Amino acid sequence: MPHSLPTLCGSIMGSPFSLSAKIHNAAYAALGLDYTFVCFGVEDPVAAVAAIRTLGVRGMNVSMPYKTAVIEHLDAIDEAAQVIGAVNTINNVDGVLTGYNTDYLGAIRALEEVTELKGKRIAVIGAGGAARAVVFGCLQAAAEVTVFNRSIDRGAALAEELGARWGGHVEAFTAEAFDIVINATSVGFKQPDSNPLDGRLASHLIVMDVAFMPVHTALLLQAKTLGCRTVAGTRMLVHQACRQIELYTGKEAPIDIMEQAMLQEIQRLKL
Ligand SMILES: NC(=O)c1ccc[n+]([C@@H]2O[C@H](COP(=O)([O-])OP(=O)(O)OC[C@H]3O[C@@H](n4cnc5c(N)ncnc54)[C@H](OP(=O)(O)O)[C@@H]3O)[C@@H](O)[C@H]2O)c1
Repeated sequence: MPHSLPTLCGSIMGSPFSLSAKIHNAAYAALGLDYTFVCFGVEDPVAAVAAIRTLGVRGMNVSMPYKTAVIEHLDAIDEAAQVIGAVNTINNVDGVLTGYNTDYLGAIRALEEVTELKGKRIAVIGAGGAARAVVFGCLQAAAEVTVFNRSIDRGAALAEELGARWGGHVEAFTAEAFDIVINATSVGFKQPDSNPLDGRLASHLIVMDVAFMPVHTALLLQAKTLGCRTVAGTRMLVHQACRQIELYTGKEAPIDIMEQAMLQEIQRLKL
């Protein structure tokens, strides 16, 4: 298999463009590895997968809208990624390209820092790629998961496919019926004033937001004001990146250093 010097890892697109590079390069430096992470900004996911093979790129992060498109071009797909239907990580081991989904693990690791999930009543708002990963992870952790979504057909289909309950439109969410609520929609991402559950939280809830820019979203700020425990999207992001580091390097990820690099970059980007 071809091999670069230094060992090259990267990402296909991804917004904001610079964030993965900062997080990964901080990890490689801390681990003392001769690895470099580059954001390629490729808009042709098939050519990008071919380039991984040609150039011997060790690992490639994949962002929306390519998380599904790359699947048929890989050699193997991890079971969880198969069920979720999305690959955000391509691990190249001796020329064999395996697709993984680290988003679901990031969500679970972040939530489990705050509470045990087994038997918890969790409401997941949203039915896109992030929601699929979150629902899958919560079900794996033996929680009772109910999905709410603006588009009824899409939400009901996700719930049925993954084996969660279908709660209906977002308006049907009531705080009393749940222990945890997770915003897995894109509402709030780069929208500091948008809160998908404005005025509908209660203090007993653990509130998680997958949106990671700004770090303190309107949803999390309202939850904190009420006294809720909260899980930020940045915590999910750094945990999913840790899993990528584990896959690409075989080493334990230096999470504190990665988190610091991530927060510095988000601050630099002023959101
Ligand atoms: N923290 C992390 O590690 C991490 C990882 C992955 C993704 N994310 C974030 O997760 C978010 C969602 O990404 P995605 O890939 O799942 O996006 P997506 O596939 O486009 O899905 C978007 C979801 O948001 C809902 N939505 C959008 N606008 C809405 C509105 N105005 N009101 C109500 N619902 C609305 C959509 O509902 P409809 O079905 O009705 O359109 C859908 O459920 C993004 O902010 C992304 O950055 C975070």
